[in-house]
Amino acid sequence: MEGATGERPAARRRRGEQLELEIDSLAFGGRGVARTDGLVVFVAGALPGDRVRAEITKAKKRFAEARTVELLRPGAERVPDLCVHGGEPCPGAPLQGLPYERQLAEKSTQVEEALRRIGELDGFELEPIEPALEPWRYRNKLEYSFGEREGEPILGFHARGRWDLIVDVEDCRLASERGNAARNAVREWARDEGVSAYDPRGRTGVLRNLIVREGWRTGQIQTRLVTSAARFPRPPVDLHTVIEGDSGGTEGPTGALGSERLREELFDLRLEMSHGAFFQTNTEMAERLYSIAVEYAGLSGSERVFDLYCGIGTIGLTMAKPAGEVWGLEIVPEAIADAEANAERNKIGNAHFMAGSARTGVRPLIEKAGKPDVVVVDPPRAGLSQKIVRRVLECEAKRIVYVSCNPTTLAPNAAQMVEAGYTLRRVRPVDMFPQTPHIECVALLEKNA
Ligand SMILES: C[S@@+](CC[C@H](N)C(=O)[O-])C[C@H]1O[C@@H](n2cnc3c(N)ncnc32)[C@H](O)[C@@H]1O
Repeated sequence: MEGATGERPAARRRRGEQLELEIDSLAFGGRGVARTDGLVVFVAGALPGDRVRAEITKAKKRFAEARTVELLRPGAERVPDLCVHGGEPCPGAPLQGLPYERQLAEKSTQVEEALRRIGELDGFELEPIEPALEPWRYRNKLEYSFGEREGEPILGFHARGRWDLIVDVEDCRLASERGNAARNAVREWARDEGVSAYDPRGRTGVLRNLIVREGWRTGQIQTRLVTSAARFPRPPVDLHTVIEGDSGGTEGPTGALGSERLREELFDLRLEMSHGAFFQTNTEMAERLYSIAVEYAGLSGSERVFDLYCGIGTIGLTMAKPAGEVWGLEIVPEAIADAEANAERNKIGNAHFMAGSARTGVRPLIEKAGKPDVVVVDPPRAGLSQKIVRRVLECEAKRIVYVSCNPTTLAPNAAQMVEAGYTLRRVRPVDMFPQTPHIECVALLEKNA
């Protein structure tokens, strides 16, 4: 049955159906938003102001998801795509068509809206977003996938929304020139030696992924090749990870063929990390992020600081000088070993680290160290569970500094803290990842008197 507008009712949209859509805004996560026939459509590959032909990929009663098939009329603000592979915009840089100032404004609005709408929070100061120092060539880590074209290995990214299609990459503008050269050299080796790419459909072949990490300040490049269990000529990489059977992912038993550890510098700290440890992927902006965390922590030389989710100890080690003592907690034991070695390497005697989960490790940490004055949390995108927020609240710290890579999980966590007697004072978004929808921010919560 046709609707009053002559268009079919929203509920009858079907997967695979194509529509012409006018994009009016940007959704959290970077897709364009269109409204048609009472239906909200989230369109991958479309930006505000665009008119696109899009194919529905998922249809629900009130909303649908779609992918852009054709850009019929670019939005007035559009700027040319700079990172392009095989004629297609880089799937890793979906916001590149928006002027950088507009990207910053969108991210700032999304942080504010998440806090106000999801967290129902008010009265905080939203400080101006910290722009990235470099809008391109800032990533110190990139993960590539192998595929095949005309029987030759190719190495690049998954095409947008496709697990089975790889686009070959010659120059990724998010990576440095050094990083691009390292990737291309491994692809050349694969071609010269005739080593096949792993095919997830037939579960045949060898080469799965290549991870290129870079010590931004040291110039060191570290390459890790992920393959199926097979015999093939020795690859020109630092680390080799073998995935047994059909399991996906990039983690498995790893052997060293070259440099096992990556060296990096932050402020005046000399750091080393093992390949399984987390490190911020934009080195220069990590310094900006941590400087804001230090400012929010309000340290005067005597405070006890808990650095929860500490990774290789970066935030804690940055705070060790202005604090009295620092205690880091992190679930990955290798990262804790790195943090301890980093403290020693930099002759920092007042930073201590403990391996454990934030869920079960906070109470033992309080028993060992005493209650902290300041708690820093820097969780993954999922944020803190309600139970972990309760553990953080048990610390009774004067200040909580929340470093967040996802404002939609920061919002409910901050709301729970406010409910329990804290005030959200300041929030500053930081653009660590230009051209992508990822948003980082730092929030300061203070305990009410
Ligand atoms: C966003 S990273 C931050 C790391 C560090 N603060 C930095 O800036 O480099 C999050 C860290 O939390 C760790 N992690 C994840 N789940 C955890 C948990 N339940 N308890 C403690 N640490 C966890 C991860 O291994 C990772 O190192």
